[in-house]
Amino acid sequence: MTRRLVIAVDGPAAAGKGTLAKRLAAALDLPYLDTGLLYRATGRRMIDAGLDPEHAPAETFAATVGLEDLRRTDLRVPEVDRAASLVAAQPAVRRALVDLQRRFAGVHGAVLDGRDIGTVIFPDASVKLFITASPRTRAERRWEQLATDPGVPDREEQISRVEREIVARDAADSSRSVAPLRVAPDAVRIETDSLSADEVLAEALRIVARMTR
Ligand code: CDP
Ligand code: CDP
Repeated sequence: MTRRLVIAVDGPAAAGKGTLAKRLAAALDLPYLDTGLLYRATGRRMIDAGLDPEHAPAETFAATVGLEDLRRTDLRVPEVDRAASLVAAQPAVRRALVDLQRRFAGVHGAVLDGRDIGTVIFPDASVKLFITASPRTRAERRWEQLATDPGVPDREEQISRVEREIVARDAADSSRSVAPLRVAPDAVRIETDSLSADEVLAEALRIVARMTR
């Protein structure tokens, strides 16, 4: 019988976790879960209900989040970035989302990306990758993903604003007391500032091959 392959892809905002995790999953024929969407869906539901994600108890919303929520198209907007990070700091929210993530890997395994996959959700993951890049690189990547007009005159200002938001979210994600963003001791770190998405995938596949043989 083949061993269950669980691959954890963690790292800060807009590092390229999702891009890598999706492509790794396709290359290895494994299901893929973007766990950030679970926190985003929880924050989205609270905003829709007119509640403040920082103060209102969010766990009842988290408890009803399911895979069908992840298809929503209104989860990647700045107000949901902030709401996701705020609800994600609440221990009861994290507890409510653990089972869904563990069950997702089932008996065959999966690739999951997030902040605490290798540290909390799957401490025994077969391979743990920590994907990172400087705040400036990450802000450029996120801006390019969202830009409707790449020729705008205030491009620099817009990128600086995205960078400030990313740095604030990283600080909140790293300093919270529950499941903070951390490099697991047995994770392999990939610095992606000067690497293309193809190069990151090639490096990740080499690491997976080395660690699973
Ligand atoms: O795509 P991006 O890196 O900007 O964010 P995301 O992965 O969609 O995550 C949104 C927010 O959810 C993060 O800022 C974290 O606060 C939270 N999150 C978390 O706490 N744990 C995870 N495993 C995934 C996301
Ligand atoms: O999931 P996360 O927020 O960490 O990042 P993402 O949504 O995968 O966004 C990364 C963006 O940077 C995408 O537009 C990728 O094409 C691009 N990119 C990358 O992922 N990896 C590189 N080495 C270079 C660029």
